[in-house]
Amino acid sequence: MSRARPNELASETRLRRDASRAATCTGYMTVSTPSPMHAHAQAGARTGRQPRQRGDGRRAASPCSRRAIRRAAPVIRELRPDDGTILDEVFAGLSERSRYLRFHSPLHRLSDRFRATLLDVDGRDRLALVALVCTPDGPRPVGIVRLSRTGPGDADIAIAVADAMHRQGVGRQLLTALGDRAAELGLTRLTAEILPENTAAAALFRAVFPHGPTRRGGGILTLTCHPAEGAHHSS
Ligand SMILES: CC(C)(COP(=O)(O)OP(=O)(O)OC[C@H]1O[C@@H](n2cnc3c(N)ncnc32)[C@H](O)[C@@H]1OP(=O)(O)O)[C@@H](O)C(=O)NCCC(=O)NCCS
Repeated sequence: MSRARPNELASETRLRRDASRAATCTGYMTVSTPSPMHAHAQAGARTGRQPRQRGDGRRAASPCSRRAIRRAAPVIRELRPDDGTILDEVFAGLSERSRYLRFHSPLHRLSDRFRATLLDVDGRDRLALVALVCTPDGPRPVGIVRLSRTGPGDADIAIAVADAMHRQGVGRQLLTALGDRAAELGLTRLTAEILPENTAAAALFRAVFPHGPTRRGGGILTLTCHPAEGAHHSS
């Protein structure tokens, strides 16, 4: 794989292979199928409506209640094709170094074409999950994990978490949720291509998917992961 090109999962040549407005912050949720609560939250977020008032006049729990902020458990949901703002926000939260590690290329901005590629998700063959955390200003997207099917049971995977959120368990939760979703989709083998110096990613992938071969070649480490395994390693 050439390092001159950004890595969609790693590379733009594999086109087929992050709402603040769009979720509640009431807890961790994987979204293999949107729940009514999730759909409701999204609808409210889209219309910009304020949280409903209770019949007794008290305000219903805010999407980002103080309790939710304190717990700081990310909400995880599927990225949608119209989530360009989320994608941009997560990208903006990555340092130059993290962008390089994620895309295998020094990427200062997302080109329109590459951005469109990253938003080209269908929930089956090209699926991405976004993690949102509660802040006093509302939910903020902090990480994205994605898979791109390469065969009936195979997919490539990649992940990035905003630098300010590193080592807080977001990557682990995203990857675990992706493993669950991949298993539901009938995928049995996930492949991550990482740069050899990327010890954080190697440790993360092996923390969630302990077993599977790791190959080195062409300046890349290729880690094979088994999705059913990740389901047993959620933190
Ligand atoms: C790799 C990355 C996604 C990790 O995300 P994260 O949210 O910081 O990871 P977590 O906090 O969930 O860590 C889970 C486990 O991964 C391992 N890990 C994560 N970061 C690590 C680091 N810097 N050094 C060593 N181990 C690390 C640890 O085992 C950790 O468990 P622990 O905190 O209980 O020790 C993040 O560093 C990142 O976005 N890097 C830039 C993009 C990238 O490299 N993508 C991978 C290529 S596809």
